[in-house]
Amino acid sequence: MPDFNPETLQAFAKLVVTRMGSGEEEAEEVADHLVRANLGAHDSHGVGMLPTYVRLLGDGLLVPNQKLRTVVDFGALLVVDAGRGFGQRMAAEAVRAAIARAKQEGASVLGLRNSAHIGRIGTYGELAASAGMAFIGFVNVADHHPLQAPYACGHAQLGTNPFCATIPGEQDAPVVLDMATTAIAFGKARVAHNKGVPVPEGTLIDEEGRPTTDPAGIVRDRVGALLSFGLHKGSGLAIMCELLGGVLTGGQRADEPQHNGTVNSMLAVLIDLARIGDPSSIRAGVATATAHIKGSRVAPGFEEILLPGDPERRQADSRRKRGIPIDETSWSEICDAARKVGVSDAEIGRALAG
Ligand SMILES: NC(=O)c1ccc[n+]([C@@H]2O[C@H](COP(=O)([O-])OP(=O)(O)OC[C@H]3O[C@@H](n4cnc5c(N)ncnc54)[C@H](O)[C@@H]3O)[C@@H](O)[C@H]2O)c1
Repeated sequence: MPDFNPETLQAFAKLVVTRMGSGEEEAEEVADHLVRANLGAHDSHGVGMLPTYVRLLGDGLLVPNQKLRTVVDFGALLVVDAGRGFGQRMAAEAVRAAIARAKQEGASVLGLRNSAHIGRIGTYGELAASAGMAFIGFVNVADHHPLQAPYACGHAQLGTNPFCATIPGEQDAPVVLDMATTAIAFGKARVAHNKGVPVPEGTLIDEEGRPTTDPAGIVRDRVGALLSFGLHKGSGLAIMCELLGGVLTGGQRADEPQHNGTVNSMLAVLIDLARIGDPSSIRAGVATATAHIKGSRVAPGFEEILLPGDPERRQADSRRKRGIPIDETSWSEICDAARKVGVSDAEIGRALAG
């Protein structure tokens, strides 16, 4: 497979989302989000999600062109219901509303509930950072068979419940911690399965609760579980994502009946740097504090010290130049999904030709 030019891939993703029924702006937002995830090497949340979205659309579990419904609007507090709308647009719109609220109030608390898959959470932290805001987001995953075995559980009971925190830094480079609370994201197990490679040790258990590195069980046969990262601590964070992201927002929970969809709910706190202090001294503080960490002696076995967000920025620099790799299996699944919504072989051929 050739590596894809990001613009060509984005145009192709936009075409598929348009054929799914989305309007121009929604298709643009979704395609942009997916390709940015690929640029940051989060292929698990890039264009490889399109087959899932096409299936969800067919099953009535994803609603194009949905409108956010305001449930609570009180001071700094905003709660919106996304009614299974296309998550990349629903979440971006909700975060833009929370940014506007934080500009008025100094900070805002956003509850986004019942959205279809919102993708890479870091995108929303970056959106807030570009508006001069710090961001903390707790997200739960529901409507999907559970994937995460919390600490001491022998089988899956929760979703991969991601957490994200970002703060603007100097020169438009925010620090972006954005992670699943499982030792690896489910999409990484899917990508490993498509490539036919094992996942790292300590990330999976099989149907008996025993350690395994074979992703086939969880990806193909839906048995076994992803382990939480960091033993009881990561597991505790996953539980708080369920309680804050799912329960407090009034969103769907992992214990409720599932329809083989993906529903994300998120509790996010946004803080306007200009209201909590002096933005330039906060940014300078971020630069000094992070330089302190980066200036440490590098531990044996490592080449350098990176900050959260650095790996994605580097990957994006490199993939913008060299192109985005997509494995054969993923590309063939994407093409099958595209055909299902009416994309022609000629249109697929044009995307491949770049
Ligand atoms: N929407 C959903 O339901 C959902 C669910 C789970 C995960 N996700 C998304 O999946 C994506 C992947 O999650 P993940 O847990 O596999 O991410 P990851 O493990 O690749 O990275 C996690 C964090 O660690 C940082 N990092 C990575 N390597 C580093 C290093 N060497 N030094 C310092 N920092 C480093 C990254 O910048 C990132 O902030 C995320 O974007 C997440 O939002 C979404």
